[in-house]
Amino acid sequence: MTDFANIAFAKAGGKLAGTLVVLVGEDLTLGPQARGLDVGSLIGRAAGVADFNGKARSTLELLAPAGTDFDRLILIGTGNPAEVGENDWVNFGGAAMGALAKAKGATVLFERPDGRRVPAAAAADFALGMKLRAYAFDKYRPQDDDQSRRKESAKITIVVSDVAGARKAWKARAAVADGVLLARDLVNEPANVLGPAEFADRAKVLSKLGVKVDILSESDMKKLGMHALLAVAQGSARPPRLVVMRWNGGHAKDNPIAFVGKGVVFDTGGISIKPAAGMEDMKGDMAGAATVTGLMHTLAARKAKVNAVGVIGIVENMPAGNAQRPGDIVTAMTGRTIEVVNTDAEGRLVLADALAYTEDRFEPKVMIDLATLTGAIIVSLGHIHAGMFATDDALAAALSAAGDATGDRVWRMPLAKEYDKLIDSKFANVKNVGGRDAGSITAAQFLKRFVKDTPWAHLDVAGTAMGSPQTDVNKSWASGWGVRLLDRLVADQYEE
Ligand code: BES
Ligand code: MN
Ligand code: ZN
Repeated sequence: MTDFANIAFAKAGGKLAGTLVVLVGEDLTLGPQARGLDVGSLIGRAAGVADFNGKARSTLELLAPAGTDFDRLILIGTGNPAEVGENDWVNFGGAAMGALAKAKGATVLFERPDGRRVPAAAAADFALGMKLRAYAFDKYRPQDDDQSRRKESAKITIVVSDVAGARKAWKARAAVADGVLLARDLVNEPANVLGPAEFADRAKVLSKLGVKVDILSESDMKKLGMHALLAVAQGSARPPRLVVMRWNGGHAKDNPIAFVGKGVVFDTGGISIKPAAGMEDMKGDMAGAATVTGLMHTLAARKAKVNAVGVIGIVENMPAGNAQRPGDIVTAMTGRTIEVVNTDAEGRLVLADALAYTEDRFEPKVMIDLATLTGAIIVSLGHIHAGMFATDDALAAALSAAGDATGDRVWRMPLAKEYDKLIDSKFANVKNVGGRDAGSITAAQFLKRFVKDTPWAHLDVAGTAMGSPQTDVNKSWASGWGVRLLDRLVADQYEE
């Protein structure tokens, strides 16, 4: 994992050398640590020239005056400190890491600019933002001499009043950071390197954290009757995998919560082949599965007190002499028949079997799937909110709240029988496309036909998981969207 921030916490009183990061409230208020530096007038003058007034997420870099121990001051605006929430601390950390540019290290004087106490968790949130921002996917640029890129980790010391509290909070937050970065790494990886078997191998690594990882092969899936998933995979030289990850941190008898991910390592469209322009982005068509894997990493690494399962269907969608054709009819694991009208609507075929398997085998309390399922969701919501479809209002509300808290936002879309009618088939129980209208909704209705009565939510992440706008906490193509959202959902709703 390419992560360029090494985080440590310390008490005030150490020598302040190198680069210092200072938090500045609106109208240039400073907390006690920063006031102790005695640079208030310098900040005031420089801010006047640079038009910096401590607005939230603004930054200003200053050179220290002669005779000071440190060399450089980086100011991070927090706006009105009374309005700073959890996710703001994460974003401030991101802004700080960005302002550090290539500094080898830095000391952060972590405090509220109005001098009031900050919870120890806020320092961990700030550190999370630094980690997320410091990520880069650089492994395939060995001889690139781009001077603007960081090549070594920055050593970050965060000075806080409650060191023990911050360290404890950081243990859990670092697990979140690692889960997000794992998801990004998987999505950024090109499909020649990350085929179904290789993806499954990467998931297997989670067993080191105490996750039970089972890998189902093509023949296992044949025995289970997963002919919808298998039909997608049949055109590829690389056989599919179904990976089941189980984290049992709760009571032995407690039914788990389940997460299901679409893992199409590359989506050419199959025989209904996609146009060439932009097709390279389809290496990210396994982002739902990557998020589920990152989430399972996080839950295990922070020893979440919950039983959770992650199930990911991993296939490659290729055109070939033995690929499925438009018009083919296949029988899914549930016994329902599917007319495959368009081989490019493959994600729903994979999920049909993965969802049915998960519900059958685990009887989960709730089931949430993530999938880069439709281009239509990008038309609807752009790259800001993921589309959320839910059969359960309480689950939808909890997801919305977790989204607002973490910044991985969702927007609820409708399900209704009138939409469901659009996927009735002349020849089979259901067809895999519904025509031009309401493309994301008919996709969700299709999935719904393969879920029985478990409260279920589907997140269409085609717009948010990759190619989303760059933010203070992400400069990478792959965002790792959803790991923070679902970690938060678990923490707020399902942990004891
Ligand atoms: N993986 C694509 C959806 C997608 C598009 C993800 C753009 C990310 C960015 C999915 O498999 C697909 O091809 N969907 C089709 C469905 C259509 C054939 C009904 C689409 O969106 O065009
Ligand atoms: Mn497709
Ligand atoms: Zn796809």
